[in-house]
Amino acid sequence: MRFLLTLTALLVYSHPFGETNAQVKKQISPYAEKGYLTFDLKPMGSQDRPLILRTFVPTLGLPQNNVLQNHSKGLPSPKYSPGSGKEATKQYQPIDGIPAAIAVNLGKPLSYVWDTTECRLLYAWTDGFLDMKNYWGDRDSGRRKGFGYVPRLYGFVFYKAIGKHPVSINGKSLSDLGSPKYSGYSIGSDRLPVYEFETGSSKVSIKIQPGPSTQTLRLDFSSKNKEILEFSSPSTQVEVKSKTAGKLSIVIRPNAGERFSSEEKKEPIKKPTKEIGEKLYTSLGCIACHSLDGGKNHGPTLKGSFGSKRQFLKASPLIVDEAYIRESIEHPMAKTVKGYLTGMMPPYKLQPAEYDSLNLFIKSIR
Ligand code: HEC
Repeated sequence: MRFLLTLTALLVYSHPFGETNAQVKKQISPYAEKGYLTFDLKPMGSQDRPLILRTFVPTLGLPQNNVLQNHSKGLPSPKYSPGSGKEATKQYQPIDGIPAAIAVNLGKPLSYVWDTTECRLLYAWTDGFLDMKNYWGDRDSGRRKGFGYVPRLYGFVFYKAIGKHPVSINGKSLSDLGSPKYSGYSIGSDRLPVYEFETGSSKVSIKIQPGPSTQTLRLDFSSKNKEILEFSSPSTQVEVKSKTAGKLSIVIRPNAGERFSSEEKKEPIKKPTKEIGEKLYTSLGCIACHSLDGGKNHGPTLKGSFGSKRQFLKASPLIVDEAYIRESIEHPMAKTVKGYLTGMMPPYKLQPAEYDSLNLFIKSIR
């Protein structure tokens, strides 16, 4: 018996037999390079080869009462203490995650989560995907995190679902048509997944891809019975690109601005500079709405804004200074510049030094 066990052990471990641990690790890495997920806790896809994961995802504080209305809500359960034989005072809290959503990464420009229970896009982000360590386990110890094993999102979230289901069919909101039923996804010739779901007698499909500029999304809907499709969502700017019976294509602009880093600590910025501000202007997507050359876009140009006079829809006029610029980035709803739309600019939660860097950059655009 002992001999058999030893033999099995030898067979199982015959590959790295006689090698040191370091050598074994070296042999593993080519697999990770080939794209086997098992060894890579922060996998990324690309535009030509999207990475599609069916996984737990973070809720990111999405409201239960409308956005996640078809998800059942877990309840805390008592903790039993085997020592005393009694219920402990502490309780297990429900896992703060959305089960069996579909998370997709198309490289740095776009990651998103499409939920198969609500049959809608929940959120989208750039610059990262999911850090799967909590869920898949630690590479070295092989253990996943006990409870709270939802993967961590890292990157910059620029879109979050708000309110009831945004799609309506022949003028009826999907939220009022009863729970949608997910039927699956297919992969088109462009390799992007197309999600399909049913609601009542309607069959709807949706394709999600990066929009024409950074931090925008393009959504293409189609319905089998050629119904009239519409999309509307509070605090979200939607541009209809084309609309015919049974088809709807739109571009959505950012409605959120939250950065999440994964477990590794990101170096905090030591000293704010104009150069960092300039990089943030591009990477945070300010560029999508603010020009630097005086041209009018969705938002006012940043050229010459510092020190100039501003009129607002409701607030009293003021001269643009640092405090106002910071307020505009952190709480854009506080004041609305005359001639522009309230609620179009998303609020940005940044490090203090990032606000300061943006301030230095904006001041320098004369
Ligand atoms: C989706 C479009 C959009 C994005 C993205 C956006 N903004 Fe804005 N921004 C606006 C609009 C619209 C206004 C004017 C309405 C208002 O005051 O809320 C505005 C106003 C401002 C103002 C006040 C401008 C003035 O001249 O009075 C500043 C400063 C500003 N944004 C900075 C930023 C920065 C920095 C970023 C990126 C971190 C950014 N914005 C991203 C649309 C956007």
